[in-house]
Amino acid sequence: MTPLRILLGGLGVRGRHWAEVLHRSPRTEIAAYADPNPAAIERMAAQYGDRPAFESVETALDSLPDIDAIVLANPPIGRLTQVNAAAARRLPLLIEKPLALELGEAAALVSIAEAAQIPLMVGLNFRFLGVTIETMRLFAENTVGTPEFARFTYERYRDGNRPDLNKYPLTMDQPMLWEQSIHHFDLMRYIYGSDPVTVQARTWNPSWSMYESDANVAALFTLQNGMVINYQGTWQSGWSQPGFEWRTDCTNGVISQRHQFGDLFYARHADESLTPVPLPPHEQWITETQGLLDAFTDTVIDGKPLQCSGRDHVMSLAMVYACVLSSREDRCVQINSVLPQKLGGFIQLDGGAKHYK
Ligand SMILES: NC(=O)c1ccc[n+]([C@@H]2O[C@H](COP(=O)([O-])OP(=O)(O)OC[C@H]3O[C@@H](n4cnc5c(N)ncnc54)[C@H](O)[C@@H]3O)[C@@H](O)[C@H]2O)c1
Repeated sequence: MTPLRILLGGLGVRGRHWAEVLHRSPRTEIAAYADPNPAAIERMAAQYGDRPAFESVETALDSLPDIDAIVLANPPIGRLTQVNAAAARRLPLLIEKPLALELGEAAALVSIAEAAQIPLMVGLNFRFLGVTIETMRLFAENTVGTPEFARFTYERYRDGNRPDLNKYPLTMDQPMLWEQSIHHFDLMRYIYGSDPVTVQARTWNPSWSMYESDANVAALFTLQNGMVINYQGTWQSGWSQPGFEWRTDCTNGVISQRHQFGDLFYARHADESLTPVPLPPHEQWITETQGLLDAFTDTVIDGKPLQCSGRDHVMSLAMVYACVLSSREDRCVQINSVLPQKLGGFIQLDGGAKHYK
C-alpha cells in the first residue's frame, strides 16, 4: 500500500506530536511542511528530515500536485483560506481543535468541506485514550448501571510562559474554555452519548492569573438524556500539582477517572472501596493521537464513517460559547439557541451513543 502523502501545517507543540505519529504510521508519510516560522521548519527538518517547506498551506498546495491529505496544527485563527484551498483540490482535512474561535466561522468551515465532499476531522485525541475506551466499555457492559449525574474537575497550574507551551492562549479571549474545556465538553457528549440542552456558567480570572482573559470556568450542564454535569476547570490553580476527577454516579454505583490520561476505577453501590480498571500501555500525546490518525486513514483510505466530524464538533463549540454567554449575561443558556443557522440548527451526534446503547 502506498502511504498517504500528508502536508503538515503548523509545526509548533502539537505539530511535533503529529510529526511523530505521521512518521510512525505505515499508512502515512510527511510529504511537506508549512509554517510561516522558518525556525519551526528547521527544527522539524532536523528531526524528521528535509521536505519541501512553505510559509503557508496555500502556497504549498499551489506548488505540490501530489498531496493526498492535510493535517493542520496551526492556531485556530484564519483557517478559512486553508480550508478553501483544500476544498478546491478535494483534499481530506484533519484539523486541530478548536476548529475556530467563533461558531459562525466553524460552521462555514464545515459547510465548505461538506460542499466539496471532503472529510473534515477535528483533533479530538482524548476520545482515543485507553481510559476513554474502557469507560465506554464499563457503560456498555452495564457494570454500574445507567449514568444520571457527574462531577468533572480539572485543576492545573498551566505556566503559559513555559518554553514548551504555545503562547497565544496568554492573550486570547477565554483560553481555558476554547483551548482546554473543549476537550472535556466533547468527552462528556461522547461518553454519555447525549447532546447538551442547557448551561448555567461562570467564568473568572484569579488575581494571580498570567492569562489576560478568564482561566477559570464553573458550569452546570443538563443533557438530553437527563444527565446533570457539574464542571469546574482551571488553568491557574493555586497549587502547582494537578488535580483531576471525573466521577459519574450511576443507578448501581460510580465510575471515577482520576487522571486525565488514565487511572480508572468503579465501585458498585455497596462496595467499600474502588476497583481499579486495567488500562493498556500509553505514551502520552502519542498513543491517543495515533488512534485519531488511524480513524482518519480508515476514512480516507478505507471509506469508513468519519469520526470526530467538524459538524459534530460544532455542538461542543456551542457548549463553550454558551458558557461565555451564560457568564456574561448571568443567565441559563439553551445550547440550541447559539447553534449557527448555517448548519440548519441540526448537528448529527457522532459520539458514543451507538457504542453502548
Ligand atoms: N489535541 C491536543 O491534545 C492539542 C494539544 C496542543 C495543542 N492543540 C491544538 O493545536 C493547535 C496548535 O497549537 P500548538 O500548541 O501547537 O501552538 P504553537 O503556537 O506551539 O504552534 C503553532 C504553529 O503554527 C504556526 N502557524 C501560525 N500560523 C500558521 C499558518 N497560517 N499556517 C501554518 N502554520 C502556522 C506557528 O508558526 C507555530 O509554529 C491549536 O489549535 C491547539 O489548540 C491540540
